[in-house]
Amino acid sequence: MSNSYRLLVKNAQQVVLICSDGEKYLTKLGMQNLSVIENGSIVIGSDGLIKAVGPAETVNAEFSEATFDKVIDASGMCVLPGLVDAHTHPVWAGDRVHEFAMKLAGATYMDVHRAGGGIHFTVERTRAAAASDLLTSLSGRLVRMLRAGTTLVECKSGYGLELQTELKMLQVIEEARRTLPINISSTYCGAHAVPKGKTVAEATEDILQVQLPRLREQMSAGTLRVDNIDVFCERGVFDLDSTRSILQAGKELGLNINFHGDELHPMNSAQLGAELGALAISHLEEVTDEGITSMAEAKTAAVLLPTTAYILRLPQPRARDMLEAGMIVALGSDFNPNAYCCSMPIVMHLACVNMRMSMPEALAAATINAAYALGRAHTHGSLEVGKHGDLLVLNTTRWEHLIYQLGGHQELIRYVVIKGDVV
Ligand code: NIG
Ligand code: FE
Repeated sequence: MSNSYRLLVKNAQQVVLICSDGEKYLTKLGMQNLSVIENGSIVIGSDGLIKAVGPAETVNAEFSEATFDKVIDASGMCVLPGLVDAHTHPVWAGDRVHEFAMKLAGATYMDVHRAGGGIHFTVERTRAAAASDLLTSLSGRLVRMLRAGTTLVECKSGYGLELQTELKMLQVIEEARRTLPINISSTYCGAHAVPKGKTVAEATEDILQVQLPRLREQMSAGTLRVDNIDVFCERGVFDLDSTRSILQAGKELGLNINFHGDELHPMNSAQLGAELGALAISHLEEVTDEGITSMAEAKTAAVLLPTTAYILRLPQPRARDMLEAGMIVALGSDFNPNAYCCSMPIVMHLACVNMRMSMPEALAAATINAAYALGRAHTHGSLEVGKHGDLLVLNTTRWEHLIYQLGGHQELIRYVVIKGDVV
């Protein structure tokens, strides 16, 4: 006979709830005042959802240990929600270690791109790769992310730039969703670059007339699940008008708008996203003051990517200005062949040191706000009754060690739990 409850984590020195009033996102004040229980316990039911969380003495008295499949004594340890990575490009073949060397020697991201490298290099190899090989490498990367504490991750297509390969990538993501415990939010990013030999207008036409209609067919047949639509809105890539028409068409298919904007040049992507009701815009290194104001008003989340600014030596995203303006700030690893980082603890560390966020702000950005950016804040991103039992148990008495110990997460993360199962 199965027990009534799946998991009890008891007597944790700290249980970091993040929030406790059903908030769907936090802005500056909330991020600075995270909800934390000292000496707490948490109960996950047989459906994988959180049934109780609170002071250890109350929870321990209410639930008999005999009714649990598993009990973890977390004395001297901390419990946090699983981390949420709001931006990754994890499906690709080949690597670009040679380009890292070029960039260290002074080439910019766009120098490499214009010379036919960068995204184009990865597109060639990904088009040629078998789906089974892409799935193998994707699975390895997702397992690395899990070990680093990520329990919900956004995964983009975007190294096909034509129907067949874009679908192949989305199907590979779908297969990973079926076979791995990590939660996935999938994104169609057919407008990640203009394919070689095509103009922006031709590429846009192909997306609107060929790729999106096929996506619609597969989605309504139930053979493919896609959650978001993305475009790389950038000078020399997709301009504002083509970005608008692609995002609008995606929205009509029911996809959340979540795109790359204002990264290398100010493009007014922020204003466009706010106008279209985008859930999130990523990068924003070059966002203007007006862009910040419009995103704050529209509640469009900023997904900041500290690894990209670090590797490409870009100006840092203006996290402090965004927080002061009341924006919803989230974080992502931007894992891709340019920024090879699977670790949200490292991302939070960089956000603190380079973007001047505090540790509580960075944790909120990598949990509830990243979940908001993916439209999942009602089920993920905090430890509240009714949400998924996705959590981390850290072998330390203060949760801040996860950010403070640069690269120390491998030792610190004792258990990663998804829906009450240790994975
Ligand atoms: O978010 N900026 C565009 N896309 C990715 C990079 C993808 C690549 O270089 O392969 C990014 O950084
Ligand atoms: Fe990206």
